[in-house]
Formats: sequence, C-alpha cells, structure tokens
Amino acid sequence: MDLTSVFNKDLFKDKVVFITGGGSGINLGIAKNFAQLGANIGICGRTQEKLDNAAKELEALGAKVVAKSADVRDADALSASMEATKAALGPIDVLVCGAAGNFPCPAEALSPNGFKSVIDIDLLGSFNSCRMAVEQLKETRGSILFISAGQAFIPYAMQAHVGAAKAGIDNMMQNLALEWGKYGIRCNSIAPGPIEGTEGAARLEPANVAKQMDKLIPLQRHGTVDDIGQIAVFLASPLASYITGTVLVADGGQNLLGSAIYTELVLKEMAGGGD
Ligand code: HXC
Repeated sequence: MDLTSVFNKDLFKDKVVFITGGGSGINLGIAKNFAQLGANIGICGRTQEKLDNAAKELEALGAKVVAKSADVRDADALSASMEATKAALGPIDVLVCGAAGNFPCPAEALSPNGFKSVIDIDLLGSFNSCRMAVEQLKETRGSILFISAGQAFIPYAMQAHVGAAKAGIDNMMQNLALEWGKYGIRCNSIAPGPIEGTEGAARLEPANVAKQMDKLIPLQRHGTVDDIGQIAVFLASPLASYITGTVLVADGGQNLLGSAIYTELVLKEMAGGGD
C-alpha cells in the first residue's frame, strides 16, 4: 500500500526509529514503513552484512540510517548501537523490540539451553533494549513497540519456549506502560499471525502447512510485512496517543481457531503425511 495515501508523508519526518533485528523480515518491513513517512532509522542485529544490505534499501527510501551490529543479549553492545544512532540522528523516538529466535521443538526434546536461548533473545533482549533506550525515550516522550505472537496467549505444540518468552514480553510491556507513562512513554505489543516470506514462517510452517492454513484462517491468507508495518506506524503515531499497555493482534483471525488445527497439520507433515 502507498502509505502516503493514508498518512501525511512527513508524519515521522526527522523522527528516529530504532529497530532490533531490523535487518530482515517483519522488522525490516516496519523500518520501511517508517522510512516512507520521513523517519530516520537505526537498526541492529547480529550480522553486519545483513544490516548493511537493509540500510541500502532504507536509504533508497530517503532515510538516513545507522546500522551497527549488536546482539540483544549483550546490553553493552546494544547501548553502543543506540548511542551511535543518537550521535548521528538524534535521540530515539520509537523503539521497536523485534529481535527474536524461534524453532519448533517438542518440550520433551528441548534442552535447557535451547529454552534459555529463546528466552534470552526474546524476553531478556526486549528488556535490555528498553533499559538501554529509556533515557533517550524520556527525552522524546517516545513510544515502544514489542513484537509478540499468538503463542503468548494460546499454547502451541512445540512452542513452549516461544510461548513463555512472548507471554513474558507482553506482561513486561504492561509493567513498563505502568511505570513509564509518567514520562509520556507509551508501550504496546503487536501480535502478528503467520507472515508470508519471513524466516519465522519458514521455520514454523512446512510448505504444505502454509497452504492449508490459508484455507482455514478467517481472512484466508497469510499476513504481509506491510500489514504489520502499517500497524506499527499507527501505534507510534499521534492517532494512538492515548493507547498504552495493549496487545494488538493482527493475524487475520487465526487465534479464533485456537492452535489445534495448526498442531494437527504440522505433526502430520513432520511425520511425512503431507496432504
Ligand atoms: C532443538 C535447538 C534447535 C532446534 C537450536 N537449538 N536449534 N534445539 N531444535 N531446531 C538449541 C541448540 O541445540 C542449543 O542447545 C541452543 O538451542 C542454542 O543454540 P545455538 O545455535 O547455540 O544458539 P544461537 O546461535 O544463539 O541461536 C539462537 C537460535 C537460532 C534461536 C537457536 O535459531 C537463531 O539464531 N534464531 C534467530 C533467527 C530466528 O529464529 N528467526 C525467526 C524468528 S520468528 P544445546 O543444549 O545443544 O546447547 C519468530 C516468530 C515467532 O520469532 C512467532 C511466529 C508466529
């Protein structure tokens, strides 16, 4: 969608949006939506080459970009990336906590370190991001967006680690909304459903499962990265200036089905059943 047909093209002019995991997928899609509306962008992630490629795409949209690698599990590296962004672009107006890790694994086969890895990237990484950014956000009376998932409120087979991490994120989001409202800082989560063309979908949905899910999701399709980017723009905009502490679910109605259908499809596929 041409965002400027809905929003003023200068809505985020000279605003600074910092996105963890911004080198690809939903997070890069969010970055592009903000860039289209005049924002400058800071991105971090583990792989500098991926960030450099993403920076070129964002610069082509007119954004000034700082792309400095940092693993969200490393608070010092994260702080350095955010400080470099501030030095070049100004203090952060919008923080998007998007970095995440996921793999499907039955709980009985998951090692403690496998569980910990996802908790560390998703939950601790989101806390680190907020903690390292809060002084900048106080300056701008900024906004924080967390990328959650349906696993936070519906149990999905093979996702015990992810459900725990995302539920933790949403709970923490509400705590921060409560504590930081006095600084004018708003905190909200977006819970995307399956989003086409992302690493997350590739990891969670064997080919046949994606096709069959489309028949069952009430809106009968996967989401797109722009579906989520547009919501991020809305939640960070003045249109949402009285919204804090909410989880906005954007999944085409998938959660209305529960997780039994996904579980059946994915278990059948993994056992070689196909369709
Ligand atoms: C079982 C696994 C596993 C798998 C890793 N582990 N992959 N266990 N099944 N498929 C275990 C390892 O054996 C190890 O435990 C522990 O996890 C840590 O693995 P490392 O590879 O050393 O960790 P690290 O290099 O830090 O990588 C983190 C990761 C990896 C999460 C494991 O997959 C990753 O980097 N992911 C980032 C990209 C990603 O996942 N993108 C998709 C996000 S989508 P042991 O015991 O052997 O030491 C998303 C959407 C969610 O989050 C919701 C969608 C609807």
